[in-house]
Amino acid sequence: MVSESFPDPHPRRLLITGGAGFIGSNFTQYWCENYQSDRVVVLDALTYAGNPQNLANLKARDNFHFVRGNICDRPLVDELLKTEAIETIVHFAAESHVDRSILAPDAFIQTNLVGTFTLLEAFRRHFPRIAENNPLFLHVSTDEVYGSLNPDDPPFTEMTPYAPNSPYSASKAGSDHLARSYFHTYQIPTVITNCSNNYGSYHFPEKLIPLMCINILLGKPLPVYGDGQNVRDWLYVLDHCRALETVIHRGKPGEMYNIGGNHEVKNIDLVKMLCAIVDELASDLPVRPSEQLITFVKDRPGHDRRYAIDATKIKTELGWTPSVTVEEGLRKTVRWYLDNRHWWQPLLSEEYQTYYQKLYGNSVL
Ligand code: NAD
Ligand code: DAU
Repeated sequence: MVSESFPDPHPRRLLITGGAGFIGSNFTQYWCENYQSDRVVVLDALTYAGNPQNLANLKARDNFHFVRGNICDRPLVDELLKTEAIETIVHFAAESHVDRSILAPDAFIQTNLVGTFTLLEAFRRHFPRIAENNPLFLHVSTDEVYGSLNPDDPPFTEMTPYAPNSPYSASKAGSDHLARSYFHTYQIPTVITNCSNNYGSYHFPEKLIPLMCINILLGKPLPVYGDGQNVRDWLYVLDHCRALETVIHRGKPGEMYNIGGNHEVKNIDLVKMLCAIVDELASDLPVRPSEQLITFVKDRPGHDRRYAIDATKIKTELGWTPSVTVEEGLRKTVRWYLDNRHWWQPLLSEEYQTYYQKLYGNSVL
């Protein structure tokens, strides 16, 4: 996707954390395509969710540097900020899956809280070196920090009180509070974005949309939690990247910006839409129509009923709106998973099967 151009006379020096994950790699690709003079350094621990293949095409570029490392490693972060003269941090690195946070919350506290603290503290110490260079710490967060909405509640605004319900969202909420406090206490220019559910290419197979898409292609059951009536607001990942770009150029330090697609869909309706699209686009399906694979399974504990984003602030103050409809975005996404079996097939590893068995039991094998 080509950027609408922002006047940006000086090349930037960015550190992108979590740049080998789903949104981070889409953003890194987007940035490298549109800002070829910028220096881009990616720091990623390559957990199960990070995949160096997502950035393989960038390796040969002079102004791109990939570092495998942990955001909790303070000496490494200090060294990178200094030697690379970083003035913009775009912080994606996180443990991001709610179900994994229920099975094993420890890593969420470590990466999301301690890792964000480590980055903020390193950036604070580094700040005097780059204070004149338009510095920014962009903390990429989630709408899940606001908790759950009832069917008739108005969507989340930036004024909605935080009420996280899972270890994942609680750890993200804590990291948001840390980012906010570094602005108010130390005048470090932090900006927080709270985005709704993303979907698109390079999405790890265990999240709802890629999971359903791949299971349809394999003829496996499609596990829908509870009654399938939970609502999510879906945003195509490149629209999120464009929103973050807009915030980098026009966002005001100390502010929060909600980002959403204005596309609320019930899970069961979304799964049925996906079934219809895959049935249409794929020629050799083991089970057709694929809707017959839908299997209702035990609900996720503490499952938030509904998320919805009011994105008025980013629209009116910064001029961003989503550009891809759910129908269009889902078709692009299905097409990508059809064309990129070589990307996702190796990810269905033994480790993935162990996780799958632990989460779903025997009901959907
Ligand atoms: P992801 O799980 O696909 O990727 C996370 C990346 O972070 C991986 O590459 C992983 O290797 C890396 N990482 C994890 N722990 C690390 C550590 N300790 N040090 C360095 N790297 C580490 O996540 P995603 O879905 O791309 O989400 C990216 C960010 O956006 C997260 O902060 C998430 O909370 C936020 N977010 C996600 C969504 C969504 O729908 N996926 C929506 C709103 C906000
Ligand atoms: O809202 C933003 C959040 O969206 C991000 O902060 C998270 O990082 C991201 O993972 C996503 O969280 P969700 O929990 O909403 O996404 P997930 O894909 O896990 O689930 C989407 C919905 O689908 C949710 O209501 C649970 C349901 N679901 C999920 C899975 C994996 C099922 O019904 N069956 C499943 O097998």
